[in-house]
Amino acid sequence: SLFQHFLPHSSTNSCLADLSEQIKKVTKESHVRAENTELMLSFQRGKVTLPQYKLLLCSLYEIYQALEEALDRNSNHPNVAPIYFPAELARLRSIEKDLEYFYGQDWREKIVVPAATKRYCHRLRQIGKENPEFLLAHAYTRYLGDLSGGQVLGRIAQKSMGLKNGDGLSFFAFPGVSSPNLFKQLYRSRMNSVELTEEERNGVLEEAVRAFEFNIQVRRCDDLGMTDHKTEIVYTSSLLRMVLGLFVALATVSVGIYAL
Ligand code: HEM
Repeated sequence: SLFQHFLPHSSTNSCLADLSEQIKKVTKESHVRAENTELMLSFQRGKVTLPQYKLLLCSLYEIYQALEEALDRNSNHPNVAPIYFPAELARLRSIEKDLEYFYGQDWREKIVVPAATKRYCHRLRQIGKENPEFLLAHAYTRYLGDLSGGQVLGRIAQKSMGLKNGDGLSFFAFPGVSSPNLFKQLYRSRMNSVELTEEERNGVLEEAVRAFEFNIQVRRCDDLGMTDHKTEIVYTSSLLRMVLGLFVALATVSVGIYAL
């Protein structure tokens, strides 16, 4: 109708809450699940092991390679530029340092990547090309997480594995961020400055839930080593049961023959 010309356009979202508030709200339940994966629980109990941590670093390497490549590629995009902080946040070089510490010079040939991590990275590359505004959701999920709970996890990791001088723990250190809390405030205000249509905003919120889901899947690691190991145990035990069964059957038959 004619009136609609005078009504505010649906892309003005001043009546809605800030993106930073909304994104936190829609991912609240996902965060609880992300905190309670097997790996995160091991962390919280101070029982994270070296193999667990090494495997996590391998996944993080792939994830940040894809994420930071997508951010670099879109650094001038109006929806990405405000949250583009390579000097303060970039993690790739730090992870490389940690991998070199644990695996040695030829770490590139030694790292293993779970299938779930590959799916996550595929999504990151895809949105880097097709929906750069969704990078808001992915950068939020990783970087704000690293600046929050990640700080505690770093100290736990150090204690659990008896690491010294920050060796192997570069991933948790943000030398370019003097106050994580203040930086998080700045980051949120930058997120809120991005002008999105309602449709784009809903897309970003949905993508944030998805980003958490990808991270939960990665941490489950059920498509790598660990399952192979479990499968092996199940396989061995069923084989053992079969042999035992055969033995019992043979014994029964021989007792029967003896009794004759
Ligand atoms: C042991 C596991 C974890 C613990 C103990 C933990 C703890 C925390 C804490 C204490 C905060 C600050 C909350 C606040 O400021 O109100 C936080 C924020 C956050 N965490 Fe975690 N977290 C964990 C795992 C994760 C994981 C696996 C992810 C996703 C990959 C994640 C993503 C986030 C994000 C995005 C925020 C920022 C929320 C916001 O202020 O909008 N966390 N976490």
